[in-house]
This record gives sequence, C-alpha cells and structure tokens, in this order.
Amino acid sequence: MGLFISFEGCEGCGKSTQAKRLAAELQRQGYPVTRTYEPGGTPLGAQLRRYLKRASDSTISPEAELLLFTAARSQLTRDIILPALEQGHIVICDRYSDSTVAYQGYGRGLSLDTIAVVNQLATNGLRPDLVLLLDMDPFCALQRKKMPRDRFEHEVLDFHQRVRNGYLRLAREDPSRWVVLDASHSFPGTARTIQQVVSSLVKSTGILQQLSEH
Ligand code: TYD
Repeated sequence: MGLFISFEGCEGCGKSTQAKRLAAELQRQGYPVTRTYEPGGTPLGAQLRRYLKRASDSTISPEAELLLFTAARSQLTRDIILPALEQGHIVICDRYSDSTVAYQGYGRGLSLDTIAVVNQLATNGLRPDLVLLLDMDPFCALQRKKMPRDRFEHEVLDFHQRVRNGYLRLAREDPSRWVVLDASHSFPGTARTIQQVVSSLVKSTGILQQLSEH
C-alpha cells in the first residue's frame, strides 16, 4: 500500500499550489506520485464539479450538495485513489472527505453523523494517512481572490469562518493524522515545512523510490 495525503483549507489559502509543488518535489526525488483533486479527477467528477461550482445556481439544496460531492468522491476513490495506493504510489489529493465535514457539516449545518455515514459509503472507509490543513483567516484568504467566481466564494464571511473553525476542530480531535500550517506565512516557508513533514512520514512508511526511472 502507498501513502495517502490530503490538503485541506479555505478558498485562497494556497492549497492547490502547495499540492502541485509537493507532488513535483516527490517525483523529482523518484517517488511514484498520483496527484488528484476534488470535486473532479474523473469524468463524472468533472461534470459534477461544473454543477457544484456554478455561481448562478443557488437552487442546490444542502442535502443535494452533500450527495453530489460524495458521488464524485466515490468515483474518484474507486477509479483513481485506491488503484494508485495499491500500486504503492504516494497519492496527493487536493481536498477529500474532511472538506465535506467542514463545508456541508460545519458550514451548511448538516448533521455530522449523516455526513459520516455518507462519507463512509463514498470512501469505503479510506482515510488519508496525513491531512495538511493550510489555515488562515478567511477574510485575508478571500482577499487573495480578485473576484468571487463560484457559489462558495460568494458565501458570506460567517460561512467561511464556520468552515475554518470546523477544520481546526477536526485537527484538534485527531492530532496524529492532522498537521496545521499557518498559510499566511510565505509560500516557500510553508512549502519547506510541508516537505519536512512528508519526508519523515515517507521514510517511516518505507515507500520505495523508483530511482531506475531517473
Ligand atoms: P475549488 O475551485 O476546487 O476550490 P479550492 O481551490 O478552494 O479547493 O472548489 C471546490 C469548492 O467546493 C470549494 O469551495 C470547497 C467546496 N467543497 C465542499 O463544499 N465540499 C466538499 O466535499 C468538497 C470536496 C469541496
């Protein structure tokens, strides 16, 4: 089995750029890496992403939203993540099941118990070995976005504050799997910390480099 790492955080925290950078660095070191993202990463996920993000569509109910995100997750887990882990890859996923707890649970106010059941179905019980939470004040994070582009970026600040607090709570409840990083620091500084955390985890799991390819 490989190693499963997810990136979590609010919009504008730099998560996607850090995920790309980490994947590139691990690949440079010779590790087999699969990078993917949610919602998306499969043809079904790409279609669902369009509906979920469409700025004009405010008619999606919180329950429908939950089911659409987890439908995309189910497909991604079965088609991309599990096969890659079985091949011994380091899988880096930009958002995973904890996004649903933070956004649909703490943000929208859906029952956390219901979300746990639906997430269990979508992931078949798979959880990331490491969750990297890029934490920052949502007000500052949203300032980094020039224009609100999608339904979530149009949400009020209070929504994003609830999401952030939800994430921090998840991290407190499971400190052995979560690492909280201050994303208001400089990008290279945060990238170095991520690299150190991941390097020590990779060493402890004994994942082999494919140096013959280089
Ligand atoms: P995306 O453009 O990928 O945002 P980001 O770059 O911040 O990751 O859009 C994904 C949006 O969907 C983001 O606002 C968070 C939201 N989301 C949920 O509400 N629940 C979920 O389960 C997932 C995966 C994402």
